[in-house]
Amino acid sequence: MKYLGILKPLFNVPHQWIPVRCVQPRYCSKSANTTVSSREKRTTVGKFKNHIFSGPTFQDFIKGLNNNNHNKSFAVDGEHSDKHDYLPEHLDMGNSRKVYFETYGCQMNVNDTEIAWSILQKKGYQRTVYLNEADVVLLVTCSIREKAEQTIWNRLQQLTAMKKKRLKTHTPMKIGILGCMAERLKKELLEREKLVDVLAGPDAYRDLPRLLTVADGGNQASNVLLSLEETYADIMPVHHAPQGYSAFVSIMRGCDNMCSYCIVPFTRGRERSRPVSSILEEVRMLSDQGVKEVTLLGQNVNSYRDTSEQQFCGSDPTRLSRGFKTVYRLKQGGVRFSDLLDQVSRIDPDMRIRFTSPHPKDFPDEVLHLIAERGNICNQIHLPAQSGSSQVLKAMRRGYTREAYLDLVKNIKQIIPGVSLSSDFISGFCGESEDDHQQTLSLIREVGYNVGFLFAYSMRKKTHAFHQLQDDVPAEVKQRRLEECISVFREEAVKVNSGLIGSTQLILVEGESKRSAEDLCGRTDGNMKVIFPKEDVAAQPAESGTCPNGHEKMSIYASKSKNSI
Ligand code: 5AD
Ligand code: SF4
Repeated sequence: MKYLGILKPLFNVPHQWIPVRCVQPRYCSKSANTTVSSREKRTTVGKFKNHIFSGPTFQDFIKGLNNNNHNKSFAVDGEHSDKHDYLPEHLDMGNSRKVYFETYGCQMNVNDTEIAWSILQKKGYQRTVYLNEADVVLLVTCSIREKAEQTIWNRLQQLTAMKKKRLKTHTPMKIGILGCMAERLKKELLEREKLVDVLAGPDAYRDLPRLLTVADGGNQASNVLLSLEETYADIMPVHHAPQGYSAFVSIMRGCDNMCSYCIVPFTRGRERSRPVSSILEEVRMLSDQGVKEVTLLGQNVNSYRDTSEQQFCGSDPTRLSRGFKTVYRLKQGGVRFSDLLDQVSRIDPDMRIRFTSPHPKDFPDEVLHLIAERGNICNQIHLPAQSGSSQVLKAMRRGYTREAYLDLVKNIKQIIPGVSLSSDFISGFCGESEDDHQQTLSLIREVGYNVGFLFAYSMRKKTHAFHQLQDDVPAEVKQRRLEECISVFREEAVKVNSGLIGSTQLILVEGESKRSAEDLCGRTDGNMKVIFPKEDVAAQPAESGTCPNGHEKMSIYASKSKNSI
């Protein structure tokens, strides 16, 4: 039998949660090539410091007040507004200093890295992929579980040791913490062993150049203001995978769901959507650049609701999936996710559209029908269940029961035949009994997911669960239940994915396989990884696009000789 494809499901190794290091620089500025001596750097930095410390005028202050009235920022901590009109737009504050990013956590953080980079680049910073030549090291962090934060603390210790060593020979290296951990830990990060020079929360990246300049003066600088409006709509970071076939487009930020275990609403703030016109402009631009796949990003991506223009603000209440409810009062009006998906998918019929991460409550039938009808919206839905027990779901404040979730799955499978489903589950949440756990196992069996992301519960301060519930499942029981979930998941995914053997799939070719130069690697519409010999592409003329990085129709075969499913 001819070998064509290996399908590689993911289990408890959640690809969106592993550290992503050294995101490749994609822009190059003219100033990026200038080398500057440390003396020159110090003089210019001195000038900036004077500029900063001379501060805004009284007029700037009045202007700031007016701005803030429009820009309904709410202060969680810190004293700075994110508008600094007294700093000229094109002031070169970076002076070609090199900034090195390390990105941890979810895809949103990868996107945030590019936003932060766009902002710094405009202020004259260079980007480096080599830590040892960095003047500024910025860690884009995640707080979702204890382990994610521990990784950052360990990394900070290493970086500080490196910084101390370098002090003797180089200009001082500055260390910054960006994103969720900056938002959650604030003071602790600044105070504990003075490991950090700069802190910027997820809504404060525009303030980074100023924060870094303050840090140059030897002070710690922080801005962890959360905003009700910041979407970085005008920044447009272009997120290419190194091969350039795929891009991420952020469409909304924040989350209003307040699931009882989750820190995200506290670190990333309230839900807000980027105006539809700016999203469409970015997708058009990507299509013109030849990008073949766009993933729409947001914390609760399908809760998208653009109210930026008066005419969008009708009184239609948001339609939810049947049997689901929200913890907040239903919102009214706005351009909804189905409208956005419709418009985005019309831009380029050859461009695949995916979205992540959705909440199951926001799948009204019109979204499902659109996915089914529109050829370029992938038949792949992430449907985080979290638990199979209605009692645990209630404690989690998820807004649905096991039955409502299973009805939704049935509805999805009916409307989108062959849909590929993935999910997130948490094992050992507060009060989870052995019976609740068994119900989770049975739900995993009943649904039959292609891919899953499974976690042991990790208590987070500030959350409802922290204040009101008992983290009463012992660590070893959590671990055992997690392993049982993984094992059932694996069995079921093998069955579901085996169903693809013998089928013909449209593959978006991503490039050469890492394991063999004779093979290509790509993804099905359902987002399954496939590896197949190059010669098969030559043998089957493509319907559209060319190889590599084009769409190819391939038959899927199992292989005994290479790693099978
Ligand atoms: N402990 C364990 N897992 C969590 N998640 C979110 N918060 C926690 C927590 N406190 C998981 C959920 C979510 C995914 C992104 O991370 O499954 O869907
Ligand atoms: Fe966290 Fe729930 Fe919002 Fe997802 S939907 S980010 S789990 S609060």
